[in-house]
Parts: sequence; C-alpha cells; structure tokens
Amino acid sequence: MFSSLNISTMKKCTLAAVIGATLLSTLASASNLDIGRAPTAEEIAGWDIDIRPDGKGLPPGEGSVADGEVIYEDKCAVCHGVFGEGEKRWPKLAGGFDTLTDDRPEKTVGSYWPYASTLWDYIHRTMPFPEPQSLSNNEVYATTAYVLYLNEIVDEDFVLTPDNLVLIAMPNAGNFYRDDRPDVINERCMENCKDPASIEVVQSLRGITPTDHFKEDGNDGVAYQEEIGKTADIPSLFEPAKAGLATYQQVCKACHDSGLAGAPKLGEKTNWKARIATGKETLYSHAINGFQGESGMMPAKGGQTQLTDDMVKQAVDYMVESSQ
Ligand code: HEC
Ligand code: HEC
Repeated sequence: MFSSLNISTMKKCTLAAVIGATLLSTLASASNLDIGRAPTAEEIAGWDIDIRPDGKGLPPGEGSVADGEVIYEDKCAVCHGVFGEGEKRWPKLAGGFDTLTDDRPEKTVGSYWPYASTLWDYIHRTMPFPEPQSLSNNEVYATTAYVLYLNEIVDEDFVLTPDNLVLIAMPNAGNFYRDDRPDVINERCMENCKDPASIEVVQSLRGITPTDHFKEDGNDGVAYQEEIGKTADIPSLFEPAKAGLATYQQVCKACHDSGLAGAPKLGEKTNWKARIATGKETLYSHAINGFQGESGMMPAKGGQTQLTDDMVKQAVDYMVESSQ
C-alpha cells in the first residue's frame, strides 16, 4: 500500500522533470516568440539534474566509502548521526529494517528506498541541508557510498561509480510496484445524472492553514461548527462598522492581514488612501465581483461566493474604518 503511493509520487516527479526539459528544449528551439531569450546549454544543464533509476543523468566520477566517511563526519553527522541514527529529531539515514509493517515504521534509505539513484540525486540536489549543491560530484559519490555502507548495502572497501550504482539492489526494491490505476476515473454519466446546478465548486486558498479555530484544549470539530454558527450571528449585535469583523476574520483576513498575494494590509493607511478615494461603491463592487489591480488579484467575495453581498459590504466597511 505504502509502496504504491510512493511510486506514484516518484512518477510525478519524473514527469515534472520531463515536462520541464521538454519546455526548455521547446523554448530553446523557438526563437520567434519575442519573449525572453533562448536558454544556453549551460543554463539547461543547471536545471536538468535528475538521476533516473537506470543511471541516466549520472555524471562521471567516483567515490569510496572511506572518502565518504570523512566527508560524512564533517558535513552530515551533526544532523544525521555518526551511524546514520539521526541526532535529536533530524532524519535517520540507516536502520529500520523489518519495521515497515509496524504501526510506526522507520523508513530510511536502507529500509525503504527502492533505488540507489534516488540517494545520489537527493544528496546532490539538497544536502548538506544548509548548503545544497555545494558538494562536488565525487563527494556525492563518496557520501552516497557511505550512506549505503551505513545501511550494510555495500562493503567498507567499496568504490561507487556510475556503472556499479545502477547494479545496487536496494533491500526494499521488491515491495515497490508500478501503480497502473488511472489518475482519474470519471465514467461519463448517461442517465440519472447529477443536475449540474447542484454541483458546487469549492475554492480554497492554497498554502494557508487557518489557525483561528484551533482551541487550546483540543480540536473538537462539533464545538468549532457551533462556534462558527455563533460568530455568523455576530454582525447584528454590533454597530455597522464592526458588523463586518466576523466576515473579515473568517475570509478576508487570510490575505489582508499579512498582505498576501499583494492584498492591501488592514490598517496600512497609505495603501488604502487612494483606494478609499475611489469611493465606497467602487470598493464594494471590487470586493463583491473581484478585481484585478496592479498589485494582485482580489477574488470575488474573497473566494467565498456563498457570502451575501451585505456581508461583503460590511467587511469592506470594517476594513475601510480600520485603515483610514
Ligand atoms: C543541518 C542539518 C543537516 C545536515 C548537515 C545534513 N542534512 Fe540531510 N537532511 C536534513 C533534513 C532536515 C532532511 C529532511 C529534509 C526533508 O524531508 O525535506 C534531510 C534528509 C536527508 C536525506 C533523505 C532522508 C530520507 O529518508 O528522506 C538524505 C539521504 C540526507 N539528508 C543525506 C545527507 C548527507 C549525505 C549530508 C552531508 C553531505 C546531509 N544530509 C547533511 C538535515 C541535514
Ligand atoms: C486571496 C486573497 C484575498 C482575499 C481572501 C481577500 N482579498 Fe481583498 N484583495 C486582495 C488583493 C490581492 C487585492 C489588491 C488588488 C489590487 O489592487 O491589485 C485586494 C483588494 C481589496 C480591496 C480594495 C479594492 C480596490 O479597489 O482597491 C477591497 C475593498 C477588498 N480587497 C476587500 C476584501 C474583502 C471584503 C474580503 C473578504 C470578503 C477580501 N478582500 C478577501 C486579495 C484578497
């Protein structure tokens, strides 16, 4: 089960890399688009760094376990532990064999990863954590060899090269299989179909986790729903300008508190001055219908189209009141 999930992630990574490379080569050959300029071969090479399980992408070089040990102790052990056991909460790189079916499996390079090529790619691309891509190719071969050695996959006198890297059999490789399920299963509906008007498109803001509703004493979903029900009543309890506070907090704050995506920050008077000067009706209309301005995109009703126009207007009132 875990294996299939992982392989599909890997497929996507490779796909992204292929699309990236295709795009770059398309750009390179299209000289008449009148945008930017064709990337140089050197620039493409800087991006085209993925290493595939069959070894494609590996640069020439080599590195021994012995050399790897020196580099590892200097640049990696501080986080990953001298034996790959992981310092404090930094990731373990070794061990965990036979734990994959436990409740809390220990997934390491040795216990879990299907291909040695991923290890080379990962170290080359990202490590050491504070200084990614600072290692030479030979240093990457050496540290890869050493991490394999810590996992008892190669011997201490082993020297890793592009040719023997692809021959390394990772212990868990056999548990990975190709996920042949289609990405989406959407059978065309021929009868008794759903009324399109009843299909709701839910929009959400990516990369933002609302935290306002987190309770100190737990995360009781029912209590949260009740609380939301109550806060929805708040507008009628306050004077007009404060009425929009609840809507602001639930919807608009996500962008307008921090200035995310170019949103004018609440209380930032200079930013709001010219906007307010265009008149309340303009602001209402921009907030209700959406607005593409110079600093970004204000989605209609902040993306929450179930809000009534009045709720949005009240939120605008609250924002204007707080920003002049
Ligand atoms: C400052 C701490 C730090 C240092 C130094 C460091 N790493 Fe890491 N390493 C990390 C962190 C954090 C992750 C997990 C990153 C993530 O999951 O996004 C990681 C992940 C890894 C992984 C993948 C582990 C897994 O199972 O997902 C490998 C392999 C690795 N590091 C190798 C190295 C090597 C080799 C070096 C030295 C050249 C090194 N690291 C130096 C912090 C460090
Ligand atoms: C996804 C982020 C986002 C959310 C959520 C959001 N806004 Fe905005 N808003 C923007 C951005 C970006 C702008 C600036 C557009 C520009 O001027 O380029 C903006 C501008 C505005 C403006 C000024 C329009 C103008 O004419 O200058 C008002 C008023 C406004 N938002 C009200 C609201 C209200 C009310 C809500 C909640 C119901 C809300 N916004 C939610 C991103 C957001």
